[in-house]
Order: sequence, then C-alpha cells, then structure tokens
Amino acid sequence: MVNTEIFIKNAVERIKREASGKTLVALSGGVDSSICVVLAHKAIGKLLVPVYIDTGLMREGETERIKETFKHVNLQVINGKDRFLQALKGTTDPEEKRKIVGEIFIRIFEEEARKRDIRYLIQGTIYPDRIESEGGIKSHHNVGGLPTNIDFDKIIEPIDELYKDEVRDVARALKLPPEISERMPFPGPGLAVRIIGEVTEEKLEVVRKANAIVEEELLEKYEPWQTFAALLEKGTGVKGDTRVHGWIIAVRAVTSRDAMTANAMQLPWSTLQKIEARITQEIPTVTRVLYDLTPKPPATIEFE
Ligand code: XMP
Repeated sequence: MVNTEIFIKNAVERIKREASGKTLVALSGGVDSSICVVLAHKAIGKLLVPVYIDTGLMREGETERIKETFKHVNLQVINGKDRFLQALKGTTDPEEKRKIVGEIFIRIFEEEARKRDIRYLIQGTIYPDRIESEGGIKSHHNVGGLPTNIDFDKIIEPIDELYKDEVRDVARALKLPPEISERMPFPGPGLAVRIIGEVTEEKLEVVRKANAIVEEELLEKYEPWQTFAALLEKGTGVKGDTRVHGWIIAVRAVTSRDAMTANAMQLPWSTLQKIEARITQEIPTVTRVLYDLTPKPPATIEFE
C-alpha cells in the first residue's frame, strides 16, 4: 500500500523536475487523469493546460459533468466527435479500433500543443495499463496504441506505478470529491470498446442508453467495481406478431481489486430482470439482454 503523503510529495517534485514549460494534461474525467490534473496544478500552476476531448464515445451526460467539475482549472474542451466517428468508420478489428482512437487523441493533443506552444504531456497511465501493454495483452489507448512519432519533448506519467486502489487513496488524500475518487473506471476508447465490430451513431446511441440504465440500477445499490452494458450483434426477436432483428445487449458487473483479475457479481435475479425489462422497454431496438458470468481470465472486463 502506498504512503499517499510521500507519493504526492514525490510526484509533485517529479512533475516540477520533468515539466519545465507549458504542459498539457489529457483529462478524461476519470480518477487517474483527475489526480494528474491536481498533482500537476500543485507542481506547475499556470503552466498547466488541462484538455478534455469530447470523442462522442462518452457516457450520457459525461461531458457536461466534467465541464462542471473542472470549471475552476480553465479546462479546454474540444469537440472531436465527427473526427473520431469518421476515422472509426468501417473498422471492425478491436485492436485497430483502439489504435485509431489513440492516434486521434494524440493528434488532437499535438495540434493543441502546437497552437499553444506546449512541449510536455502528462498522462494518467497506471501500473496495470503499463504491464498489460508491455505483455502484449492489449494496447491501452494511452500506452501501446500510441503512434510512434509523438510531437512532444517529453511524456510524463506520474502515476504509472500505482494500482487502482492506490490511485483512489491518493485521490482521497488530495481531497478530490467522492464522485471522482470513488468513480469506476471508464476505458480511454470509451463506448467504442463496448460495441462489437463497427462503431456507428445508431449503435452508440443504443449502448449509451443501456449503460445509463445499468449504472442507475447497479451503481449505488451494489457498488460494483465496474459495471456497464456492451452491444453485441443483432439477433431475432419478436414484437407483436412480427419477428424482428434487434440488438443484443450484454450486461457486465464485476468485483476486482486492480483490474488484473475480476469476478462476475452474483446479482439478485429480480435485479437482472428489472434491468432486462428497462433496457428492452426504453430502447425498443433491443430484443435481447444477457448477463456475462465470465471471470477475468479467461475474459477481459471490457468486451474488446
Ligand atoms: P480489460 O478489459 O483489459 O480492462 O480487462 C481492465 C480495466 O481497464 C479499463 N480499460 C482501459 N482503460 N484505456 C484505459 O484507460 C483503455 O484503452 C482501456 N481498456 C480497458 C477497463 O475498463 C477495466 O477497468
């Protein structure tokens, strides 16, 4: 377990030492990048430029929440929605999708950096991201999926030795509000990895609504380590007298310590039934809802 006071002191010193000019922090709104913003703010004050990109792959209400939470740090909000969707068009391979998202992220940051003459980039990569990428399990967008010709003098990863529970300890020690310190992880490539195959606006809309329902039903009551909905494929269903081809939604709720391993939560049947009923009623194009029982390994937490 990390000593938070010492960690914060060292991290602030490290940022001071390594970021000797205007520095961009990519804020996603999750706990990792949020503590990076706070640490960097302590270290370099006004040299810090926090940037948030609305990828169009975010959860319902996410961008508005982030704007509100970080209104005091002069957050730069960039609308990248069309660019991400356009680039993802026609791509079905999961690793390819991650790389595309990662590449556009970094290109947008580079463009911002050039406009504002910023030489340094801080990223909220944590330990499990780093070793999973090094081990070739998956290219996390903020590690393995990065393009190689990055136009910054330096990329600083101040929390790359922390596990997730340690990140939360640091967030509490930094007095971040519980909405951030206790917030469940959300992948960098966003809803793109919760859609099997090609990302389209229609699928995004369906999976976004399904995620909101799952969170409403499970987050507060069961406190899962992570919970979400993924959109799989289409399957046959029936509406009235007609057979229709509707979306299949998978619900995932897991317990975990650090995302390296995970177990499916044992949820009450009545809760699962309520989720199924809400999803199929509130999103009429969904005709089937599944609950994923698989631990990690052999599955991963996300679907792609
Ligand atoms: P998996 O699916 O690999 O996920 O079991 C482990 C944890 O990491 C999150 N995740 C990501 N986080 N960029 C991130 O910052 C990513 O590309 C990414 N992919 C997965 C996932 O939500 C889970 O908490």
